Amino acid sequence: MTPGRSEVRTIQWVGGRVTLIDQTLLPLRERYVTCGTWEEVASAIRNMVVRGAPAIGVAAAMAMAMAAREAACGPAGFERALHDATNVLFSTRPTAVNLGWALEQMGRVWRRSDLSVQERVDMMERRALQIQEEDVSSCRCIGEYGADLILSGCLAAGAEGGGQRGAPAPDPVILTHCNAGALATAGYGTALGIIRSVHARRPGVRVLTDETRPLLQGARLTAWELQRDGIACEVITDGMAGHFLKSGEITHVIVGADRIAANGDTANKIGTYGVAVLARENSVPFIVAAPLSTADFDLPDGSSIPIEERAAEEVTWCGGRQMCPAGVAARNPSFDVTPARYITAIVTDRGAALPPLGPALRAVAGHAGGTA
Ligand code: MRU
Repeated sequence: MTPGRSEVRTIQWVGGRVTLIDQTLLPLRERYVTCGTWEEVASAIRNMVVRGAPAIGVAAAMAMAMAAREAACGPAGFERALHDATNVLFSTRPTAVNLGWALEQMGRVWRRSDLSVQERVDMMERRALQIQEEDVSSCRCIGEYGADLILSGCLAAGAEGGGQRGAPAPDPVILTHCNAGALATAGYGTALGIIRSVHARRPGVRVLTDETRPLLQGARLTAWELQRDGIACEVITDGMAGHFLKSGEITHVIVGADRIAANGDTANKIGTYGVAVLARENSVPFIVAAPLSTADFDLPDGSSIPIEERAAEEVTWCGGRQMCPAGVAARNPSFDVTPARYITAIVTDRGAALPPLGPALRAVAGHAGGTA
């Protein structure tokens, strides 16, 4: 794939080590950290040096390739060591299914008793790099399918609909939440992938990004990516989303996903659910963008998606400054679940699923291309 003009190097495999752009420091510092052991990659995932569902999956796959090389010459048994590494990596961030998916993909290699240890080590490195490449290609496909859908002007938010079937679409004004961009993937992005593809065809597209408290992924990361790409972007506080959705200015909401249940219920960054309800109230189409590997067909609905709880200090402190009275309690669920009924479309790397989302997702998973 041709890289974009400001391609972000989120995760790099350099001579058996993993180099990550440190997302905790952006946008003020562009610093790269190199992880020399799989345990360092695990810490980087836990501490959100690397974050975003697909990026976490790629980093975990590379960590397993590092663990395999270490285990091949270590004192513990090869499979025992990789079993332990899998468990540690799996526990780093519970909500995004891409992490478990990538570990499962790597497990299919290291469990192959028909191959020598060295063959499995080499194959794991190749598989990790393949997962990385596939993720960039997936994002490009999501971008194209999503741009087709948006620019066709045929989306309606709900039964009453806000779409203008058949009418030429105006330059879109897109609201997004959190960061589902190149930084959250191996490159190009899911929600931002669609925005990039729309921008390539309609340079007049504009973006409003929620700042996304507590860790400000929208203000720090989405704004940074879009500014680098010359895509018009304005940051708003999370509480302003309803105001702008009601104003009629926003034509579409596009967000990423950390896990999509079989019926289409979608876990994404905390605050997404509120945006979805406000979008429906104001007849604005609400689009989820994610590779099919984010779908968890083992979960019938979103009620059993594990929601990560992070430290209260992420809420009580912001940018190194205490925001609340010392000692006050705080809650910090990192994700919420948007019921499928609020979702106008799920755009995957294999095509777009339209309501009813359960059967449509299964159809998209079963065939390549188009809209189901
Ligand atoms: O806690 P984060 O920053 O990892 O949360 C990220 C999100 O919620 C993204 O929207 C999601 O992972 C999709 S990324 C393509």
